[in-house]
Amino acid sequence: MDEASSYIHKEQHCRNALKKIEFYRHNISSEDKEELLKVLDSIFLTTGDITKLFEEKFAQYINSNFAVGVMSCTHALELALRYFDIGPGDEVITTPMSFVATANVIEYVGAKPVFVDVEKTTGNINANLIEEAITSKTKAIIPVHLYGQICDMINIRKIADRHGLKVIEDSAHCVEGVRDDIRPGNLGDAACFSFYATKNLTCGEGGAITCNDVKMYKWLLQARQHGITSDAASRYTKKYVSYDVNFLGIKCNMSNIQAALMLHQIDRLDSLHNKRAEIVNLYDKALNDFSNLTILKVLSNVKHAYHLYTILVNASKRQSLLHALQEDGVGVAVNYTPIHLMTYYKNKYGYSIGDFPEAECIGASTISLPLYPKLNREEIDFVIDKLSKVVF
Ligand SMILES: Cc1ncc(COP(=O)(O)O)c(C=O)c1O
Repeated sequence: MDEASSYIHKEQHCRNALKKIEFYRHNISSEDKEELLKVLDSIFLTTGDITKLFEEKFAQYINSNFAVGVMSCTHALELALRYFDIGPGDEVITTPMSFVATANVIEYVGAKPVFVDVEKTTGNINANLIEEAITSKTKAIIPVHLYGQICDMINIRKIADRHGLKVIEDSAHCVEGVRDDIRPGNLGDAACFSFYATKNLTCGEGGAITCNDVKMYKWLLQARQHGITSDAASRYTKKYVSYDVNFLGIKCNMSNIQAALMLHQIDRLDSLHNKRAEIVNLYDKALNDFSNLTILKVLSNVKHAYHLYTILVNASKRQSLLHALQEDGVGVAVNYTPIHLMTYYKNKYGYSIGDFPEAECIGASTISLPLYPKLNREEIDFVIDKLSKVVF
């Protein structure tokens, strides 16, 4: 190697050493920014015409009759539980392998979360175990479409119907997903979505709830704004009418600002999903050769939303692998430590290790890798290369 190429080689080495592959980078485009500026230049920053437009587009995309924009998926889940009148004395079946919001909302309304273990191969709630967890107090099931793969909704719906239960889908990870031609919300009584900062469709913080029942839709519109009978936009655009409160809602309405950021993202969802699929394909191909890690299964009847790409490694080495990847400049995350092992849930319900072995096994060994359309080939190779060096 001559002096010049040796210098370039060292430079490259230094740059690589300092390289940082973020865990996530958003896809807000100039078109989204322009839409946002239009709202900022208008009179109406809060819930209004742009929120409505977004809701219509989102409902159409997801193939649901109605969508209601809220401030987060957490709010959407809470509203669904409140609509179905679930509260103290009631039980709601869900999965321990989720973000803690899924169980917290059950606590918010005063009901009890009852966990059911997950499928080893997908991490989704094991529909075969649901029935034995049902008691006379059970009112609903909250399945979570983990990482973007839809749960066994056909069976979950059948079980719910046999026992007169509601199904509220936690679809925080799954906007684009399909299973057996079924989309999120098609079989559930409601589906809840997150537009949090790292989600496939995002406005930083936001959420939506979809449903097919007009009575529920009208209730949700009112419930997201304290339960008042007319919102600010209708008081502004129509003749002023004093409002009343005829039931107690919460305050979680989506603003025009949030909606503006997502109006055009919806049109790009499918092309962005294709890019995610290409990245997943590259990861899958490369990581299949790694004997020390496992990849969760994507079922053949599923279109995965590819929200998160997770690998399973040896649990005893997980922490050191996480740190090694971080030191090498690869953004990583853990999705998730099972909810029943969080101190609040352990203290309140006496859960301990061994209660939900499959969820615990995934929770102890999972690492999420960067997955977003802006990742380029060089960055993907960089992640794979670093992984190959630390995982053996
Ligand atoms: C599975 C799951 N459910 C619910 C939520 C809550 O979403 P939000 O942050 O929009 O309230 C999240 C957030 O990441 C999630 O991953």
